[in-house]
Amino acid sequence: MQVIKKISELQAALQAQKPAVVGLVPTMGALHEGHLSLIKRCTSECDVCVASVFVNPTQFNDKGDLERYPRTPEADCQLLESAGCDIVFMPTVEEMYPEPDTRVFDLGPVSEVMEGKYRPGHFNGVAQIVSKLFYAVQPDKAYFGEKDFQQIAVIRSMVDLLKIKVEIIPCPIVREESSLAKSSRNTLLTELQRKKAAKISQVLAKSCTFAMSHTVEETIAWVGEQLKSRPFRMDYYEIVDGKSLQPVRNWSDSDSIVGCIAIYCGKIRLIDNIRYK
Ligand code: PAF
Repeated sequence: MQVIKKISELQAALQAQKPAVVGLVPTMGALHEGHLSLIKRCTSECDVCVASVFVNPTQFNDKGDLERYPRTPEADCQLLESAGCDIVFMPTVEEMYPEPDTRVFDLGPVSEVMEGKYRPGHFNGVAQIVSKLFYAVQPDKAYFGEKDFQQIAVIRSMVDLLKIKVEIIPCPIVREESSLAKSSRNTLLTELQRKKAAKISQVLAKSCTFAMSHTVEETIAWVGEQLKSRPFRMDYYEIVDGKSLQPVRNWSDSDSIVGCIAIYCGKIRLIDNIRYK
């Protein structure tokens, strides 16, 4: 596995290999089995698998969150190598942002709800870095985890806007044994919080049964009720159309319906989602 820090070296390495199908797995490091499932899918479908490891400052609307974000570059390299990754791209902030990126994208309604409301500027920062990575790597396929369900819709919108030719491949959420969605942020939870955090996905799973005999509004209220006490503090639970990400009022409104949650467990903000249909 090659470890590369410069865009020019990355492009030279790709040109030397001339692979027919280039796959990219963008990450912010602190890798876990969720990321590794993306790498494995990428290596099975592409001739070359490039993984990027870069904690992108422009997508953090909270400075403390950026400082706290876990960084484990050596362990990441070992995991990537054992998962069969061919090239890891680990640039510095100066390499990705030699000057401030002033681009403001019109990412449409999918970017305005949920995370868009609660983390202003977050998706613009995601679009900045992912577009830079797409320009640098020119991948045929790019792999993203469905835990960040809204992020995938926003990246599709960015790709349409910038007319970038790349296939966006969503990959299923990987869960811990407790059913907590795997996330780099889980390492920031105390042991007790991590145990309690499993309740989030358990409640979402149970809400599918509840939903069979209740309205959308009642289901949202029920989820809120189950997760209303400490250590939890809910930002939102929304039940949305799986494509437009706009709230649905009735279960018959769409044939693709997803519930999306953002909730603090102590000081750590977690997201997860569940498909109703
Ligand atoms: O999902 C993430 O880890 C990040 O948002 C991404 C896509 C790597 C961009 O920094």
